[in-house]
Amino acid sequence: MEKITSNELREKYQAFFVKHGHKQIIGSSLVPENDPSVLFTTAGMHPLVPYLQGQPHPQGKKLTNVQRCLRTTDIEEVGDATHATVFEMLGNWSLGDYGKEEAIKLSWQFLTEKKWLSLSPARIAVSVFAGDNNSPRDETAAQVWQMMGLPLERIAYLDNQENWWPAGGNDSGPQGPDTEIFYWTGEDAAPVTFDPKNKRWMEIWNNVFMEFIHAESGNLTPLQQKNVDTGMGLERIVMALNGMNSIYDIDTYLPLMKWLRTDYFQDKDIEDKKLRIIADHIKAVTFVMTDENNVTPSNAEQGYVIRRLIRRTVVTAQGLGARDFARLFREGMETVVLQYESVYELMRGNLPAAQTAVEQEIIKFEGSLNRGMKKFAEIEQKSSEKISGGDLLLLLQSFGFPVEITTEMAREKGKGVDLPGFRRKFAEHQTRSRAGSIKKFKGGLMDQSVTAQQYHTATHLLHAALRKLLGEQVSQKGSNITTERLRFDFNYDRKLTKGEISKLEEMVNRAIEDRLDVERTETTVDHARQIGAVGLFKEKYGDKVSVYKIGNFSMEICGGPHVKNTGDLGRFKIIKEEATAAGTRRIKAILEPGRRGYETKQVEQ
Ligand code: ALA
Repeated sequence: MEKITSNELREKYQAFFVKHGHKQIIGSSLVPENDPSVLFTTAGMHPLVPYLQGQPHPQGKKLTNVQRCLRTTDIEEVGDATHATVFEMLGNWSLGDYGKEEAIKLSWQFLTEKKWLSLSPARIAVSVFAGDNNSPRDETAAQVWQMMGLPLERIAYLDNQENWWPAGGNDSGPQGPDTEIFYWTGEDAAPVTFDPKNKRWMEIWNNVFMEFIHAESGNLTPLQQKNVDTGMGLERIVMALNGMNSIYDIDTYLPLMKWLRTDYFQDKDIEDKKLRIIADHIKAVTFVMTDENNVTPSNAEQGYVIRRLIRRTVVTAQGLGARDFARLFREGMETVVLQYESVYELMRGNLPAAQTAVEQEIIKFEGSLNRGMKKFAEIEQKSSEKISGGDLLLLLQSFGFPVEITTEMAREKGKGVDLPGFRRKFAEHQTRSRAGSIKKFKGGLMDQSVTAQQYHTATHLLHAALRKLLGEQVSQKGSNITTERLRFDFNYDRKLTKGEISKLEEMVNRAIEDRLDVERTETTVDHARQIGAVGLFKEKYGDKVSVYKIGNFSMEICGGPHVKNTGDLGRFKIIKEEATAAGTRRIKAILEPGRRGYETKQVEQ
């Protein structure tokens, strides 16, 4: 019998922080809408960046939630005991309210008190920031930990690669020193002294004291508002509390792992890591493709990440003797949704379209898979030690084998790959979109730039124009912004005519020329609905939300940020209108410097 399930932990965590004055908020989409600097939400703090920088949050200064995250930076480690690309992060935030002492006390209480997680203090250790030119050695955090009862030997002082969020501090955006909490997963008693290099000390929770902002100039300056941002790994805690050996043994993975092992692979002798990689990738593809923000496999941005995960799964499964990859995904995705549909409500409804899109993607890839495998065998045999950069590029471009897949296949044959050579060759051929996608693969922070705000405001204008022209039944199915364009998905069952497209452009440009003010107000969900605001009503009845009103043209529930006046947008131009799935259309549009454009560049805070 499990001591705690994932559902119970989600509830318990939020109940604890609500008891301590926090407001429970809904996690954001895994695919950020308004942030051109990241492909996926990689930490609970990403969607909250504007509030960490001082914009008042409608729900107050103390918040808690569960956020789905996706990180591809650790992809090499996926399939070991504790790493996955997609995971859930439990978080509590102080937006200029409590500080370090209170944050640490709350963490300790939740972890060790009988009523809450009741973890043994004898199995806990922490790291704190060792100090550098920007910020002193964190003796305060160390003292508070000792006050909680942690002996000095269990406190390690580490540098800014380890104990600064984000690591090293080179990203722009809010940041600061952190203290990380570790749990001893060994069966024996924990060693007296904490050695962070010992893998059996598993990181379970990070408390960031977000006190600085990395300005665009590159300087680190103190934030006026001192924040606390924390992130606890849900899967790791469930594993620890149940005394399990890996996150892939917990309740949310178990049915998928079991189905893969006994049903799909018929109890064949397969190493755990391979099955876990397949399980992880199927789960990641399911999470992203059934999210509110409409992503399908493609050659750019989020779609390219999904394409690579699908191909990596297919190649791995083929290496294990599998043939029916469509079934692998169809049934695998269903198994994932069964575990999560009660928590993430959009999953079930979006599943059929996602399964169809994956199946089409697999059919495309299967066409070149066997030929690619043959080519790989030829190349591998003629390569003495390493597969050359040129051959890596050939396998990518002609057969769709992402370089990390070829690298793994080569490794299995005892060969290496010339990655620097591949990068050189790739740079000669790369398209802009792929370059962007690879750069963003690494993550980043919410882009607060003027361009992002302009595209965001233009998105609201387009949404309103679509509803005025095509009818109120039209609503947003997905939205995405880069610094070069906006992309907007909406429900409609046919192609728009040329006349409709130019009418939309005209309506949006008129709203721009009218120099409409963009005003933010806070109100309850209920009132927002009554006054006719559109948007995803994710918060509960009575909760406060921000409503952005653009003259009398548009009114949407939204977190921002936006420009202050539509006169700042330039000229709006639709560059593409296409279908993404049955009943869903996609518009891509750009803003060109216009007659009155780019004059005032004010930033809404
Ligand atoms: N932002 C911190 C992290 O993701 C809590 O580790």
